[in-house]
This record gives sequence, C-alpha cells and structure tokens, in this order.
Amino acid sequence: MLDYGGQYSQLIARRVRECGVFSELLPHHVAAHEVAQRGPKGVILSGGPASVYADGAPALDSALLELGVPVLGICYGMQLLARELGGRVEGAEVGEFGRSRLTVLRPGRLLSGTPAEQTCWMSHRDTVIAAPPGFDALASSSASPVAAFESVQRGVYGIQFHPEVVHTPYGTQVLTNFLADVCGCERSWSPSSVIDEQIARIRARVGDGRAICGLSGGVDSSVAALLVHRAIGDRLTCVFVDHGLMRKNEGAQVIAAFRDHFHVPLIAVEASDRFLERLRGVTDPELKRKRIGAEFIRVFEEEASKLEDVGFLVQGTLYSDVIESGGGTGAATIKSHHNVGGLPADLRFELVEPLRTLFKDEVRAVGAELGLPERLVWRQPFPGPGLAIRIIGGEATRERLEILREADAILQDEIRKAGLYRELWQSFCVLPEIRTVGVQGDVRTYGNVIVIRAVTSDDAMTADWARLPYDLLEQIASRMINEIRPVGRVVLDITSKPPGTIEWE
Ligand code: XMP
Repeated sequence: MLDYGGQYSQLIARRVRECGVFSELLPHHVAAHEVAQRGPKGVILSGGPASVYADGAPALDSALLELGVPVLGICYGMQLLARELGGRVEGAEVGEFGRSRLTVLRPGRLLSGTPAEQTCWMSHRDTVIAAPPGFDALASSSASPVAAFESVQRGVYGIQFHPEVVHTPYGTQVLTNFLADVCGCERSWSPSSVIDEQIARIRARVGDGRAICGLSGGVDSSVAALLVHRAIGDRLTCVFVDHGLMRKNEGAQVIAAFRDHFHVPLIAVEASDRFLERLRGVTDPELKRKRIGAEFIRVFEEEASKLEDVGFLVQGTLYSDVIESGGGTGAATIKSHHNVGGLPADLRFELVEPLRTLFKDEVRAVGAELGLPERLVWRQPFPGPGLAIRIIGGEATRERLEILREADAILQDEIRKAGLYRELWQSFCVLPEIRTVGVQGDVRTYGNVIVIRAVTSDDAMTADWARLPYDLLEQIASRMINEIRPVGRVVLDITSKPPGTIEWE
C-alpha cells in the first residue's frame, strides 16, 4: 500500500491483513523499483487530503502501472489513476462527506457479490466525472458520477468510497474481491504465521552470536524477547531493571513469567535505591524523566558489559513506530526518549526488531500464541519513567510511591473485577502533592488526595475520559480511603485529550 496521507491509510493496511493477506504501508514517494523488490501481488493507492490539481500534490509514478500487478486506487488514489489514464476529474463546490448511497451499474470484478443499492462512506471534494477510455464505470453515487471503475485488461481498479471503514458494509467484500480474485492472493497470512518466519530471520541474522534484551514488562519487549528466545535459545539474555517505580507486584510477575516459566536467562536488577537517590529533590517532571532515562542506560550498560560477546540488541519496535517516524523504508527507529526500555543509538550493538512489521493488536496475538500470560499480553501501556511522573508537584519519595502504588493496585483490582480492564486504554492514579482536610472517626484528618484517571483511546493521540459506573467509583474510593491510611480524599479526572493529556505531567 502506498500512503498518500489519508486519515485511514493504516486502517486499510489493517483490513487487508484481516483478510488474511500481508500488507505493508510505504510512503507514496518510494520508487517503483523499491516496490517491485518486495514482490507484491498487488498495489493499493490510499486516499489523501490533497486535490490532484493542487500545486505539489503527491503524484503517481506511472512506472507503478508497469509492474505487472493489479493496482487499486482508493479515493485520492482513484483520482490519480483517472487523471493519469485520461479520465476526467473535477473539483466540486460541494463535497461528499459521510454516508452515501451507491448505485451499482454493473458489478464487474471489483463489486462482484454486492447488491445493486448499498451504503458506503465517502470523504472527498474532487470527483471522477468520466472513467478513462477503455474502462468500465461500475457505480455512481449522488455526488460521484463514477464512484468505481475497472479495466480488467489493464489491471487497474478504482473506488471513490472507503472500503476500510465499518460504515461501508460491503467494503470487506470489495477488498476481498481485489485481493483474492483480482490479485490471486492466498489469504493465508495471520499474525501467528509470522512466528516461524521471524524465527528463521532472527536465526539468519544473529547466526551463532549472542543477544541482549531490555525487558520492561510491557507486551512489546516481552513478545520480542520470547521470539528471539525461540530462535536462539539461551544465547539471549534479558535484563530487567526494577527502578522501584513499577506498579505493585509487576517486577515479580515479569520474573516469574520469564525466568520460572519460559526459562529465559534473565538478569533482574533491583536498583530502586539508585533511582530514588537520583530523584532526590527533583520535582520537575522533565528532569525526572531525564534522570530516570540516564540511570536506566547506566544500569543496562553495566549489566551488558558483564556479558561476553554480545553483538545484538533486541528491541520491541512496532510497525506504528516505524510508520510514525516516516520510516518503513528501512531506517532504524529507536525509542530512546519516550521509553525507558529504549537505548541510545551509539551502543555498540546491531538491532534485532522482530515486531517491525506488526501492529499492536497483532503483537498481542503473537504473544498469546507464544504462551505469554494473559496479564502481560493485555497489559495497558505504562510509561517508562513509571510512577515517578504520576507524583505531581513533588519529589518521588519511597513513601509517596508506596501510597500511589497501593492506590493503583486497588484501582486495577476493581477495574479487572468489573471486567473493564481491556476496554480502557489506560487506568491509573495520580498523587498531587497537596493535603486536604477530612474527618474520620470524630478526628480531623489532613490527608493525601488520589486522582483517578481512566481513558478510552485507540492510539493515545486523542482520548476520552471513561464513564466508569458510579457504583464502581464508590467502591474504589471507599477502599482507597479505608485501606490506605494517608489517603483522605479521592477525585475523578473528567478531562479528555485534547485539551488535556493522558498523564498529568
Ligand atoms: P500523554 O500524557 O502525552 O501520553 O497524553 C500519551 C501516551 O504516552 C505515555 N507517556 C509516556 N510513555 N515515557 C513513556 O514511555 C514517558 O515519559 C511518557 N509520557 C507519557 C502515556 O502513558 C500515554 O500512553
């Protein structure tokens, strides 16, 4: 798939994979020979925000049409094809956004098996007025005289509507027609089918060398480590640095899973004293992050230097990280700043990134297939600097971390019991450094405040505050106040993102 900047490009790539066909998203400007090198069975051109007539609008490389594989243009992609091949595209005063009625004139190969009248989702202003010569116009909608076209002979197909969104009920059928019938793809790909392939690749790359992996307890590094362990066995060593900023029992769970269950060579470093020492007197959140990140690298390097002949570093980089950094064409991405598990580029290791082609939910599927415990597979994202950045306006001391950790454990426990854990992107507590007055058993108290933050989100770019049931909130609040002595008040954060962020700092 070539990405012309459409809002739904990643989603199209996901849908193709859900149809059982491996797909890769590349920037629209990659050279046709780079596309050819990958040996694709077909090419999809995504939608995009530009008008084909705008100055500097992303262009179509006509060499793509000479690769000898079918090409499907979606929305902007279709308009590019129409213009290139002699059809007519016109800018319209009125756009077509949202639900539309599609009338199928003739189904052809692309719309085969779909009804004559159907609903589809549109999002465009320019419109194809006439299909290129020799093409069949397959369908129209009120604002799109040619909403789908094809030339079986040329192997070129186009649709104006978005097959990838749920509001296009026959979208999957149309994609399947293209993938299976037109391109002849087998539909045999699944996230777990990558396991064997990745293991073979890792073996070829690492040879009889040794690798090291920083485990954070998150699903990405866990799955990456397990895959590499399957491939090279005990020539992988994992390093788990417990910085004392984890949630309750988290370190023990990671150690139990990797050392006791999977028998992966694991060095667990209990380094909380070192980290707390570095955090002493630090209240500024960015300084906390920097200190924690720097100390993490120091500890990791110390451990790595004790091992002999380690040539490779395993990273849990995901496909979305690769795409976000504008990569996809091979540039190595290292999550050095945003994640304590990330390491600087000047380490003397070669990178092994077995998850580079997978989306997050695919990584979870691979993790489940590899037998990773449910708790680790479905773990909500947790920031590398951990609980330290959830103590607001104050120093992360051992005592405060303990209060926050206990509150967090109650929150997680109740949310899991209510069956809501997987529905939430994140749920956690924040401890602002303030005291408020209260009364307990006829005695005036002056206690800490715990903030409950729970959000739904798809990608953390935007988020909404979760509407947790009142009864659940009441249960959480009363447990926190009854079970954690210093806590005197519990409040709920009802800010979405934007304007807020998910974390408080
Ligand atoms: P915000 O607060 O910016 O967070 O809405 C978006 C996502 O990023 C996570 N986050 C971090 N992750 N190191 C990390 O590894 C950090 O310093 C950090 N700060 C925020 C946050 O938990 C959310 O998922």
